[in-house]
Amino acid sequence: MTEKEKAVGKEHVEGKEKGTGKKIYLGTNTKMYKTIGDTCTYLKALKELTADISEEQAELFVIPSFTSLAAAREILQDSGIRLGAQNMCWEDQGQFTGEISPLMLKELAIDLVEIGHSERRHVFGETDQEERKKVTAAVRHGFQALLCVGETLEQKEYGISDEVLRMQLKVGLHDMTAENGGNLMIAYEPVWAIGVHGIPAGEEYVNQRHRVMKQTLKELLGEEAAWEIPVLYGGSVNPGNAVPLMRQPYVDGLFIGRSAWDAHDFNRLIRSVLEAQA
Ligand code: PGA
Repeated sequence: MTEKEKAVGKEHVEGKEKGTGKKIYLGTNTKMYKTIGDTCTYLKALKELTADISEEQAELFVIPSFTSLAAAREILQDSGIRLGAQNMCWEDQGQFTGEISPLMLKELAIDLVEIGHSERRHVFGETDQEERKKVTAAVRHGFQALLCVGETLEQKEYGISDEVLRMQLKVGLHDMTAENGGNLMIAYEPVWAIGVHGIPAGEEYVNQRHRVMKQTLKELLGEEAAWEIPVLYGGSVNPGNAVPLMRQPYVDGLFIGRSAWDAHDFNRLIRSVLEAQA
């Protein structure tokens, strides 16, 4: 770690300890769960429970199913909770049966688009090149692109996690420039840590990977943009590890699955993180 990196990391930690640190980011992707009705019930409750949390304290976001987006937009209209889509095609229109165009998402006035979730990459075979096209299209259309990256267990065992992360970032963000910093967010989600069979990653391991990712962002987009881009951790985040993970200097936020799908659970987790920061 260079002296400068140490200083920035230290500043971040000290800021967190004093409660004056950078804004934190806490979001969830509800995957292929929750019907429109379920999403509405969930969002109404979450909106009410978190109404007193300012956007300066925490940026909250929810990424529900495509079919729920219109109803979700209505509910979240006058709330601080941002709304995202789970995927997007890079083309505006055309012969792409089953795909969702950026123009269709624009009509729904969503804020962000999740790109390259582990399940998109490993169940549906999406490639880094495809993620790059999606990131580029999302940013061009004015959405914030949430690019997910992460190594598989095999890659971790070969000791090439950092190489994999650097490659996924370098290809995925290839078309980006320093000016796009504010339109990007990264989620580090090791494939082996995600879902019911996932093993939560240790906070020290996570911090080391986040440090490598910040360094890569710096190489790609420059120092300022690199510190501007939030890097979140995801993969079996739960009430027991949320606070220790958030205490890591290079962790800007958490991207949560199962532990956030009940509005009360998510609210409790958000509060525990906020209290630990205060
Ligand atoms: P999990 O999901 O928290 O249920 O492991 C995380 C994710 O896939 O984003």
